[in-house]
Amino acid sequence: QLIPATLIEGDGIGPEITASVVEILAKLGAPFSWDRQAGGLGAIEQFGAPLPQPTLDSIRKTGLALKGPLTTPVGAGFKSVNVTMRQEFGLYANLRPTRTVVPGGRFDKIDLVVVRENIEGLYAAMEHYLPEGDDPKGLAYGAGFNSRRECARIVRFAFDYAVANGRKKVTLVHKANILKILSGIFLEEGRRIAREYEGKVAVEERIVDACAMQLVTDPWQYDVIVTTNLFGDILSDLTAGLVGGLGMAPGANIGPNAAIFEAVHGSAPDIAGKGIANPLALLMAASMMLAHVGRQDLATRIDTAIDRVIRIDGVRTRDLGGETGTAELTQALLAALG
Ligand code: NAI
Ligand code: MG
Repeated sequence: QLIPATLIEGDGIGPEITASVVEILAKLGAPFSWDRQAGGLGAIEQFGAPLPQPTLDSIRKTGLALKGPLTTPVGAGFKSVNVTMRQEFGLYANLRPTRTVVPGGRFDKIDLVVVRENIEGLYAAMEHYLPEGDDPKGLAYGAGFNSRRECARIVRFAFDYAVANGRKKVTLVHKANILKILSGIFLEEGRRIAREYEGKVAVEERIVDACAMQLVTDPWQYDVIVTTNLFGDILSDLTAGLVGGLGMAPGANIGPNAAIFEAVHGSAPDIAGKGIANPLALLMAASMMLAHVGRQDLATRIDTAIDRVIRIDGVRTRDLGGETGTAELTQALLAALG
């Protein structure tokens, strides 16, 4: 039984890394039938928009997408592709797992997940200038909002994820000591939802600045972190940095009707077309996608192959300090799948 899924190659290194991942998924027998759609710069040339209607229609139909990185044209007046997708499909949860794959770094055996609320908070971009003194733009004013309903929904998502993935603890990360209402509502709802999972998943609370420090001094204490939009954006990049950077960081944007899986990094125009891009972040995103459709067995086979190639064979792409190219790494992964 094939599962229809939208595939967006993307810009820059996108075509190279998606080709690698699609080849590995085919060898694995992953049950996806790809609907290839345009996105990014290529789509602007063809359709006049970075996320054209046929692509949106495809995702609406399949509810499932693997997306390569898209170059955001600067100053061309297009709305950010990621923001468009979040709004269009109500992708309220951003899921960012972090796992040590490359041994010998400063942080071995890290295995944690950041769940970020993706729609509300301070990224609602309700901001404008106000006059101050003689300067009509002397003051920047910004506001944010967190709804009780959305706070409850994202915390519930985090706890359900913990239960489904055998994780033991959820940490509510906030700044309710200062933002008593804006962040306080998240903490209130978090505590309320946590009670429903008593005895199944433990709950902890951390103030965001303390959490940032502990993520560097003792990241092993964390399991699942759930937090609001701005804090989650920053902390999830911090955690990617713990384990080898952008080339190793997958992410998913998930809503009630659609889920979009991608690498966290961009289109890396500086190395595009050179055959040296690291496809592992996108491959890990594909692994998350398999788990999402209930094929944890195939996801585990991908994760095991990655571990084998990186830990045992010692293969390293340029971003990991090695010399191996995309094609050679792909061959090693195909061999490791058995
Ligand atoms: P970037 O992530 O593309 O590159 C940053 C640095 O990391 C570069 O030196 C690049 O060579 C390296 N790098 C990134 N991914 C790599 C990989 N898989 N293998 C090896 N090296 C890798 O970030 P940058 O340069 O800020 O953005 C480039 C373009 O990508 C921009 O147009 C930006 O808007 C877009 N972008 C798109 C994202 C998406 O579609 N999800 C996310 C971030 C940026
Ligand atoms: Mg970010």
